Amino acid sequence: MGDIRSNVSSNATVSDDEDFARFIVNIKRSTSIDLSQYKENQMRRRLTTLRSKYGYSTFAEYFTALSSEAKLRNEFLDRMTINVSEFWRNQNRWQVLKDKFLPQLLKASPRLNIWSAACSTGEEPYTLGMILDSLDALDRTTLIATDIDDGVLAKAREGVYLERSLRDVPVEYKNKYFTQVDGAFKVSDKLKKAVKLQKQNLLLDNFGDKYDLIVCRNVMIYFTEEAKHVLYGKFARALKPGGLLFVGSTEQIFTPGQYGLETADTFFYRRML
Ligand SMILES: C[S@@+](CC[C@H](N)C(=O)[O-])C[C@H]1O[C@@H](n2cnc3c(N)ncnc32)[C@H](O)[C@@H]1O
Repeated sequence: MGDIRSNVSSNATVSDDEDFARFIVNIKRSTSIDLSQYKENQMRRRLTTLRSKYGYSTFAEYFTALSSEAKLRNEFLDRMTINVSEFWRNQNRWQVLKDKFLPQLLKASPRLNIWSAACSTGEEPYTLGMILDSLDALDRTTLIATDIDDGVLAKAREGVYLERSLRDVPVEYKNKYFTQVDGAFKVSDKLKKAVKLQKQNLLLDNFGDKYDLIVCRNVMIYFTEEAKHVLYGKFARALKPGGLLFVGSTEQIFTPGQYGLETADTFFYRRML
């Protein structure tokens, strides 16, 4: 975050709305993160709590502090992104992926190109890795995982988890892909090697294309309707014809046809040919 304190108004009479609006502009200029594309009420509530915890009564003061303190900046990024994740989150949907869709995709293509978008600390792409390996398809897959937050990507690279994030992992996978170290669970090197972790801002950066499967779960809920609309279009264009978009369990797309997608199963959408 560059030092752009000169952009911060010292005018004590600005309204709370104006104070937050200026904060959004300053954050975008200094980090490229566009808070205006996240649902405002949620975001503002979370950041007001964080700001107040450090005793700042305005977003202008808070921004000045962020500009000079790395610790505050990291906590800001952590809080604005919400990075809760779990292995096999909503297990029955992963089962559908394993039993129905991945076999179909593997039949149609000798190699798969898969993207876990907004992967947080790695539970989602490593779940994909386990499933692909159980289908003997890990060697035939390019598995990319991206997130905007360097902190979560570092944790994903480390690959060490508390037991509670493994509670939905079927026992045979738990035994095969984790070793217990000091009460924590370390993911196998085979999975770590298979997952290519990269930094990416969904709201700003270009998407790759020709994906057989894009998994994007539990991040769209934080975005405004306009931002979601743009992103669904981008995801659809990034898929191969016949490719699938797998979304989170509160993230149903109501009119998939407008993006050239059709419902393939609950929370799965297929790019039409
Ligand atoms: C709740 S987690 C979801 C993790 C995983 N997909 C799952 O369902 O368990 C949301 C993730 O979205 C990421 N995120 C938020 N805004 C983003 C953006 N603009 N671009 C990429 N990732 C973003 C956060 O850093 C966080 O790791």
